[in-house]
Amino acid sequence: MTEPAIKVKNLVKIYGELHAVDDISFDVQMGEVFAFLGPNGAGKTTTVEIIETIRSPTSGEVDILGLDIKKNRKEIIQRIGVLPQEFSSFDRITTRETLQYFYRLFEGGRDIDELLKMVGLEDERDKWYMNLSGGLKQRLGIAVALVNDPEVVFLDEPTTGLDPRARRDTWEVIKTLKKEGKTIFLTTHYMEEAEALADKVAIISKGKIIARGSPNELIDAHCGTIHITVRGGGYETKEIAKEMGFSYDTPGNGDIIIDVSSSEQVLPVLNRLKEKGVRYDGFDVRKANLEEVFLALTGQALCEEGEKE
Ligand SMILES: Nc1ncnc2c1ncn2[C@@H]1O[C@H](COP(=O)(O)OP(=O)(O)OP(=O)(O)O)[C@@H](O)[C@H]1O
Ligand SMILES: [Mg+2]
Repeated sequence: MTEPAIKVKNLVKIYGELHAVDDISFDVQMGEVFAFLGPNGAGKTTTVEIIETIRSPTSGEVDILGLDIKKNRKEIIQRIGVLPQEFSSFDRITTRETLQYFYRLFEGGRDIDELLKMVGLEDERDKWYMNLSGGLKQRLGIAVALVNDPEVVFLDEPTTGLDPRARRDTWEVIKTLKKEGKTIFLTTHYMEEAEALADKVAIISKGKIIARGSPNELIDAHCGTIHITVRGGGYETKEIAKEMGFSYDTPGNGDIIIDVSSSEQVLPVLNRLKEKGVRYDGFDVRKANLEEVFLALTGQALCEEGEKE
């Protein structure tokens, strides 16, 4: 097996009394999209900025591309790309000029016009930074992170505050980077983002990693529930759920959501509805998601109410 792109061992960062990062260890493999998922204040930015050599750890070891963060800062900076959580450029320089500025700082890298095309900013190349929308500013930030043609790209909450359309455009850029073979360290508190993009996820809460694996592994290990939504199912559907010993939920729109614990239990429920001649408008079957995994692990929701799409 090839060496991991990033190796983190017993990493700790203490601010006063606060253990912002509390003894975490994990690896990120070459070429994978790794999502670091956790709520506000969990310790995501602190961890990622230590790996990027921007902050120093209280203790612990971090290697990136086989280089020790304490000894090889200069080389690491040349070989990584960073979109910080609060990216901004100068108000009165254009999109293209921003990229030229960073290109010169790195003394070369990727072709700027190709980069503009890749992130979909060709039409904005001559616009001042201050006149770009939030989504376009974030995309420029991603382009800046790529200007030195890095092997590992860090994106700290690249889609926070974006509308669903702009978020999906950013997801496409991330998928393109993965196809190019880049290793991507994605920090997010959107579970659907981790589910859509990540090969591996680490869930961080209060400075500790509380679960790690692929999205499917995490769901199967911590929350194997399958939800069968019977649209317009009504009273008879509830009776069937009770009779078969399954719990159910009534979201208030006439739907009944029956929770079963394995895929083998789905068909018997549907057969029973048919046998009993229950009339309903349709159904869908859905696995639990990472949001529910987080809830199962911590007893807390990952996103604030209203923060989801
Ligand atoms: N320079 C600092 N000095 C003191 N405390 C800090 C410092 N930086 C971060 N913290 C604290 O460390 C904890 C983790 O912060 P961090 O920014 O890493 O969280 P995060 O997971 O990135 O959160 P968010 O989703 O809000 O960006 C928080 O309680 C924060 O207040
Ligand atoms: Mg952060």
